[in-house]
Amino acid sequence: MMKLGHTILRFERVASTNDVAKDLATSGAPEGLCIIGREQTAGRGRQGRSWSSPAAEGLYLSVILRPDIAAANAAIITLAAAVAVAETLQLDYQVPADIKWPNDVLTSGRKISGILIESAIESDKLQYAVLGVGVNIAQQSFAAEIAGTATSLLLETGEAISPEDFAKPLLERLESWYKLAIVRADQVIARWEELSSYARGRKVRVESSARSVVGFTKGLTPHGALRVELANGEIREIVSGEVSLLAASSSN
Ligand code: BTN
Repeated sequence: MMKLGHTILRFERVASTNDVAKDLATSGAPEGLCIIGREQTAGRGRQGRSWSSPAAEGLYLSVILRPDIAAANAAIITLAAAVAVAETLQLDYQVPADIKWPNDVLTSGRKISGILIESAIESDKLQYAVLGVGVNIAQQSFAAEIAGTATSLLLETGEAISPEDFAKPLLERLESWYKLAIVRADQVIARWEELSSYARGRKVRVESSARSVVGFTKGLTPHGALRVELANGEIREIVSGEVSLLAASSSN
């Protein structure tokens, strides 16, 4: 595998770094190629949401991955990326970080980073995956819609760093967790569970397009699905959806 970030293409302004990376991946760009935008005019989030991307205030980064894994195992890469972001915050910047399943990174209960993985699949094999990471770095305030739920490194630490500074340790941690994800998915799952306060015993609601379930979290499956125990004792394995915390925590 090639080093993640062996080549970094920097753009002053792009619609979405994920789109640039996908175009390049489609035309054969190698694993590890990284795109950083100083600003995104159409930053995208999961589930059709937008990602606020003002110039020089956030890190907007996408990396091309070409893991030799079955498409069914791709979720583990997502979890590995969340672990890498959380560790960068915690170990390199002394900012406590939490992970909300599958890959929202929170600080003081507010979102500081989001991850959007988009992949191309051919006959059950992953052709490529574009790993897009957005980190709120220097924002001093947010638009009204997200003001109550978002935070930035500057707001948390009072320290002004540039988004590019954050990219360096992040790419190193992404690389090591990505490598591990390919060979030892169980270790990624274990570290994710350790970093996430959501992993076990939290009462949550999980909403997906089809339905909404309420129950207590019971860790992850070996493929990275969230196990939720319903009131009747049944265990659901959630593969996609939006998790929100409900009032009570259980004792188990
Ligand atoms: C989410 O939490 O919903 C995911 C947000 C992902 C944002 C990043 S910023 C870099 C890359 N380019 C995009 O358009 N989105 C991702």
